[in-house]
Amino acid sequence: MKITIFGTGYVGLVTGTCFAEAGNDVLCVDIDEERIEQLNDGEVPIYEPGLEDMLACNMDEGRLRFTTDAAEGVAHGQFQFIAVGTPPDEDGSADLSHVLAVARTIGEHIDDYRVVVDKSTVPVGTADRVHAAILEAMEARGVDVAFDVVSNPEFLKEGAAIEDFMKPDRIIVGAENPAAVALMRDLYAPFNRNHDRLIFMDVRSAELTKYASNAMLATKISFMNELSNLAERLGADIEEVRRGMGSDPRIGYHFIYPGCGYGGSCFPKDVQALARTARQAHYEPELLDAVEAVNHRQKRHLVRRIRHYFEDNLERRTFALWGLAFKPNTDDMREAPSRVIMEALWDAGARVRAYDPEAQDEAARLYPDEAGLELCGSPYDALEGADALIICTEWQVFRSPDFDRMRRLLSEPVIFDGRNLYDPEKMLAAGFVYYGIGRGESVDTLI
Ligand code: UDX
Repeated sequence: MKITIFGTGYVGLVTGTCFAEAGNDVLCVDIDEERIEQLNDGEVPIYEPGLEDMLACNMDEGRLRFTTDAAEGVAHGQFQFIAVGTPPDEDGSADLSHVLAVARTIGEHIDDYRVVVDKSTVPVGTADRVHAAILEAMEARGVDVAFDVVSNPEFLKEGAAIEDFMKPDRIIVGAENPAAVALMRDLYAPFNRNHDRLIFMDVRSAELTKYASNAMLATKISFMNELSNLAERLGADIEEVRRGMGSDPRIGYHFIYPGCGYGGSCFPKDVQALARTARQAHYEPELLDAVEAVNHRQKRHLVRRIRHYFEDNLERRTFALWGLAFKPNTDDMREAPSRVIMEALWDAGARVRAYDPEAQDEAARLYPDEAGLELCGSPYDALEGADALIICTEWQVFRSPDFDRMRRLLSEPVIFDGRNLYDPEKMLAAGFVYYGIGRGESVDTLI
């Protein structure tokens, strides 16, 4: 099948590459000339395991091409995927200007039936606006061509996006015209094996499903973070509580890990955007607001703990920090807890020696002039002479380190662990002062 993808960001690239891998003829379009040039040279601008190889292989086979020519894009694919960015604007709602610009472009060039697929995470009602924008541009040309707009939200996790696309748990399609439903079924047939993973519904429900899923996951995390703060005050261990709760199949073990707050490009943005949508629909989203507020507070939790430990004097102290990315297996630092923590430390006059297996270039890009940031060659380098270690991301390499070596390198054997990687009793026995999240010891009387 012939497929056009507008937008070569994270979602567009993964979607285009995976469709090509299934044997389709895919053309990816972007207005960013430099990016298209890079991609045509086989350079992948994002870190995603497996993507670079799969992309190169499909380019070699001629199934995957990149262009800035939008007219060629509209002419190419029976399916026109819109996978451009929807950054939050000032009030937290999703900015649809890129999505609607693509819709107008499609309307300006369409000359045969097309299925226009909203892949970007867009507020409920966007498909109607995309439909209207295409119609308007088409009418301005005095033509009348049939098309359908369907919603097909992505559920890709960074770091596992290829796997998630090739072996999805579910494929949500909001489509109302039976012709579009049939085409979407054919398109996804290669990814719909063993049992039916395609769930068809009306367009608005599909749009809401995406926000609802992410908001539910964010709610689970904020709930656990709230409970972890309570556990600290009550002398309970949230890790025990988590194990006990997760064993109830109605609750489950997924996404109930307490930590230093959720980050990334989806959860913070989607929770805010859904709250905004609720307000526009004259509904006060009390739970969503609380999820957001708890997360905001949680990102500062370790900072409060560190301040308390060092009696509110961080001036000229040095902190080792392990993990800059918002989660393991990505170089993405969007909304990462590490940023909130580092920025608070710098404001208080401290320095940070950081190590991350993938995100150091990104940190250098985000903080080019920050004298208080030193990026180190290994986890152990970061520890040299530091007053304490702060752990922000649960990269696998941090799980079983050489504790003796760590103790020798740190000037004080203190660890603030935002991901509960270690056993507090063992850490105590190994001679560390160790603080996790929600592990029965509270110093927070302020919140
Ligand atoms: C998420 C959704 O999982 C995905 O389905 C959607 O399409 C996009 O948003 P992603 O942002 O890549 O994917 O990250 P995810 O693995 O979901 O983690 C999000 C954040 O939650 C991370 O900061 C992570 O550290 C945090 N988290 C996750 C917790 O703090 N505790 C948990 O139990 C799980």
